[in-house]
Amino acid sequence: MAVIIGGVGTTHVPSIGKAIAERKYKDPYWSPFFKGFDYVHSWLAREKPDVAVVFYNDHGLNFFLDKMPTFAVGAAALYCNEDEGWGIPVARAIPGDPALSWHLINALVAEEFDITMCQEMLVDHAVTIPMALMWPGENWPIRIVPVAINTVQHPLPSPKRCLNLGRAIGRAIETYPGNLRVMIVGTGGLSHQLDGKRAGFINTEFDQYCMDKIVHQPDMLARLSIHALVEEAGAQGVEFLNWMAMRGALTGAVSELHRNYHVPISNTAAATVVLGNRVVPRREAA
Ligand code: DHB
Ligand code: FE
Repeated sequence: MAVIIGGVGTTHVPSIGKAIAERKYKDPYWSPFFKGFDYVHSWLAREKPDVAVVFYNDHGLNFFLDKMPTFAVGAAALYCNEDEGWGIPVARAIPGDPALSWHLINALVAEEFDITMCQEMLVDHAVTIPMALMWPGENWPIRIVPVAINTVQHPLPSPKRCLNLGRAIGRAIETYPGNLRVMIVGTGGLSHQLDGKRAGFINTEFDQYCMDKIVHQPDMLARLSIHALVEEAGAQGVEFLNWMAMRGALTGAVSELHRNYHVPISNTAAATVVLGNRVVPRREAA
C-alpha cells in the first residue's frame, strides 16, 4: 500500500533559479533562505520518497486566461518545462507516474471534484524551482503527479475547497495498491503582491499565523474567504491555497518537523516547512 510520509511547503520565486545557476548558496542575500533547505535534504535522504504529489499554480506556461481550470491533474509520463521569460535555465523534464495519476483522477471525480485531466502538461517555475531546491544536483530522484490550482484568474477556489481537494487526494493515496512512499508538496507564497498599488506588500504577522495554524488547525484557515486571503496575504499570496491542499493530503497524525521564514526573497516572504505524517490505522466500520 502507498504511504504518505509528509509534506513540504515552499516558496517558488523564479530568481531562486538564477541564484542556483550562479551557485549563490553562501551569498549573504541568499544564504538565510538556502540554509532553510538543509533540514529538507536530510529528511528526504532519510525518507526516500518515490513520488511527489505537487500542488502548485501555473503562471501562464500551460494554462492561460482563455482557458483556466480550477483544478488540473497531470496524467503524463513526462513533464517538460519551457522558457517562461524569467532569464533562468530551462529545467530538465520530470518523470510522471501515470498509474497513480489515474487512480487519483478516478477518486476525485468519484468524490465530485470537477477536474481537468492533462495527458500533456508543461510545468512552470512553481514546480521546477521547488524540485531544484529539494534535490540540488544533477538528478531529481522522484516521479511527480502535478496538481494545478487556479490562483490567477478570479473566481478562485476557497481555502476550504483546496483543503478538501487535498483531503480527497490523501484518502485516494491511502487506497492505492502500489507499494509507494508518497510525499506531498505545496508551492508558492507566502505573502506577496507583485503589481498594483500594494506592490511589494508583505504581511509577516499573517504568514506566521498561517504557518502556526496549518500544522494542527487547518480548518481555522479554511474559514478565510478568498477576498480575506488577498487582503491579508497580497494578490499573489493566495498561492497559499497550494499549501492548504498539501496539508489536506496529510491524512495521519501531523507534526511540524521544520520551519524557515525569511523576508524578502525578491518580492516575496520566503517560507519553507516540513510536516511529518504518521500513518494512523483507520478503524474498520462496524
Ligand atoms: C515572484 C514570486 C512568485 O510567486 C512568482 O510566481 C514570480 C515572482 C517574486 O517575488 O519575484
Ligand atoms: Fe508564483
